[in-house]
Amino acid sequence: AVSKGSEPWILMVTARSPTNIAVIKYWGKRDETLILPINDSISVTLDPDHLCTTTTVAVSPAFDSDRMWLNGKEISLSGGRYQSCLREIRRRAGDVEDEKKGIRIRKVDWERLRVHIASYNNFPTAAGLASSAAGFACLAFALAKLMNIKEENGELSSIARQGSGSACRSLYGGFVKWVMGNDASGHDSIAVQLANESHWDDLVIIIAAVSSQQKETSSTAGMRESFDTSTLLHYRSKVVVPRRILQMEEAIRNRDFQSFARLTCADSNQFHAVCLDTSPPIFYMNDTSRRIINCVERWNQFEGTPQVAYTYDAGPNAVLIACNRAAASLLLKRLLFYFPPSPDTELTSYLLGDKSILEEAGLQTMKDVENLQAPPEIKGGISVDKNSGSVSYFICTRPGRGPTLVVDEDQALIDPRTGIPK
Ligand code: DP6
Repeated sequence: AVSKGSEPWILMVTARSPTNIAVIKYWGKRDETLILPINDSISVTLDPDHLCTTTTVAVSPAFDSDRMWLNGKEISLSGGRYQSCLREIRRRAGDVEDEKKGIRIRKVDWERLRVHIASYNNFPTAAGLASSAAGFACLAFALAKLMNIKEENGELSSIARQGSGSACRSLYGGFVKWVMGNDASGHDSIAVQLANESHWDDLVIIIAAVSSQQKETSSTAGMRESFDTSTLLHYRSKVVVPRRILQMEEAIRNRDFQSFARLTCADSNQFHAVCLDTSPPIFYMNDTSRRIINCVERWNQFEGTPQVAYTYDAGPNAVLIACNRAAASLLLKRLLFYFPPSPDTELTSYLLGDKSILEEAGLQTMKDVENLQAPPEIKGGISVDKNSGSVSYFICTRPGRGPTLVVDEDQALIDPRTGIPK
């Protein structure tokens, strides 16, 4: 690496990446180190304006080791997954020239140069909202820009995959398929975009962050236990998923909400059935999760055609996908009726993300929430139990774009003078 004069220099790149929610689930690996799945999966990328990871990567000849900070706290990079990502990225690094700063880095220099990485989630990490997916996608994307990697054939997605399987799907916006591939090397296990975020922009997504005391089994451990003990998982990956993938691709292509909702709910329920079929059984959903399913199922049943689809990952949070804004307003009214905020909570801190949905639902104040009437589908006998406090908050969002560069240097997470987080 050369630079003008002898002053130390720092070169930085900042990027932002979305998280994603699977509508056909990935569960089970055929290779644990390379992270190769036993079936294809399909996801919707969530709008990074509401849920995203921002990552700044920096390089300088003054750095003497690779270091990383997550939400301001230094974390270890010694884990195999970080090491795989860094190794795979460095292998592909190219020549970099910054004429303005007078910096030239040759391809061969990258092996010696160390990087600093600072990453920040704009949503509570504790909520268990797929932060590793956004995180590894952002890491791969930002490092690829810093090291001037010419991305070909979903290569970046296959690097992010080695950080966390579901991360490979966060490299694209809209609707994304992770093709499992066949090769033992994993080079064909990549994400491909099925349709971009404007293809089906009627959809509105409401996430319920469900309160939970319990520490859940990690996805990694859970899917290993399912792979070893669940016969349903192997039937699912061989027989059920291949068929559903084709049907889901068609539903997305045709914006056919009825099929989309049917497949999404069925696949979430089967994933949780696999967890129950695992020995010992794994419980990710809790009573609140199941109450939300009941609320949606009853309403869909009452309307005759599905208005909302639900899906749950390895935790109790519900991800609800409404066919349009009108349905999302009606859904929100139902959710706030069954799960009102605790008395001391402000409405605007109970619904995060796209708050304009509150107004569309005619819910301006807490009084409006208190005055909500029972939805028509429960008239006639079904007892209503209100569950204040069982949902921490809701987030209203939509399908969104893939990773982007953040060009405004003021938004970098690393101080260009010190090389450590601001
Ligand atoms: C239930 O990608 O978190 O969210 O590859 O071991 O890091 P690792 O697992 P991870 O698993 C996600 C599982 C899921 C379904 C999905 O996102 O497809």
